[in-house]
Amino acid sequence: MNTTITEKAQTKKPIQPRFELMRLMTGNWISQAVYTAAKLKLSDALLDGPLEAPALAEKLNVQEIELRRLLRALESLGLFRNLGEDRFEVTELGSFLAEDRPDSLRPLALFNGEALYAAWAQLPHAVTTGESAFGRAHGAEIFEYLEAHAETGAQFDSVMASTHGAEAPALVDSYDFSAFKTIIDVGGGKGSFVAEIVEKNAGSKGMVYDLPHVIDRARAYLEERGLSARCDTQAGSFFDRVPEGGDAYLLRHVIHDWRDPEAGKILQKCRAAMNPKARLFIVEAVIPEGPEWSSSKMLDLNMLVICAGQERTAAEFNTLLAHNGFKMEAVHETKAPRVSLIEASVA
Ligand SMILES: C[S@@+](CC[C@H](N)C(=O)[O-])C[C@H]1O[C@@H](n2cnc3c(N)ncnc32)[C@H](O)[C@@H]1O
Repeated sequence: MNTTITEKAQTKKPIQPRFELMRLMTGNWISQAVYTAAKLKLSDALLDGPLEAPALAEKLNVQEIELRRLLRALESLGLFRNLGEDRFEVTELGSFLAEDRPDSLRPLALFNGEALYAAWAQLPHAVTTGESAFGRAHGAEIFEYLEAHAETGAQFDSVMASTHGAEAPALVDSYDFSAFKTIIDVGGGKGSFVAEIVEKNAGSKGMVYDLPHVIDRARAYLEERGLSARCDTQAGSFFDRVPEGGDAYLLRHVIHDWRDPEAGKILQKCRAAMNPKARLFIVEAVIPEGPEWSSSKMLDLNMLVICAGQERTAAEFNTLLAHNGFKMEAVHETKAPRVSLIEASVA
């Protein structure tokens, strides 16, 4: 049926608040449709070129009619394109869901659509009690859960690498780390941040410090990047100790996992390991003070869901650092989307 002029005029009307609220509350429909495409490897199946729906359904081992419905919904969001005659192709947007590319967002779609999705359903619990929603949903806090569930653990590492891994080159491009000879990545995960710094600065050596079950994966990653000789690894908990001897200590996406008492303990262990001239670099989203939209405000809720953690404003970082033996020197804007580099010296 053709759209009438009256209908066209109506679509230009501002969305009424009630409908706007409905659009907001059903945002999960969109994320779960995207998750389903990732889970079924829809984008991967179309990477070699367009396919007709029956062939695509057979390749993916799914129902043809339901597949067309999923494709229609995702086409309206720009992920796939119907070329006519029942043939479909993946768009540039949809292609980021394909598994086999270094900047793939498939791990994030899977983690967000599975373990994290169940956790977000428990946000009321987190707001009521201050406890993590993840713990309520899964009966274990995130890092214990990841240790016990190797597949989700590897998925989480890939999420970190694909979301924050792309961040590392932009960070290294935004700040000159060449003055630092020994750089320790505390809670470094695979070590993609320190690896990037060491790769760009021939005179620097690095170390990744993380929990024992993570450090094996860091070792493998550094070997893969050909950096084993210049990047050491050490297993341990930053609540017990942090290795000494660094000129620079990195805490990327670590402090936001914790509330102030625990975050303070981590900072104190770093402080105890640092010589008076060493510098501390925290990489996090910094929440703006005003009422405007900022993804950091949703990320803050996500941290509450995942581990009862939090994002912080610059003033909150200043206070946290000051209470734990540091002086905040600067909040550097970076070329990496959404994150700042907070530089602190020993007070
Ligand atoms: C959100 S991830 C960030 C990883 C990495 N810094 C990055 O930016 O990709 C938090 C890291 O903290 C580590 N972690 C959690 N508890 C820890 C502890 N007690 N001691 C050392 N590392 C810990 C986790 O294993 C994980 O690698």
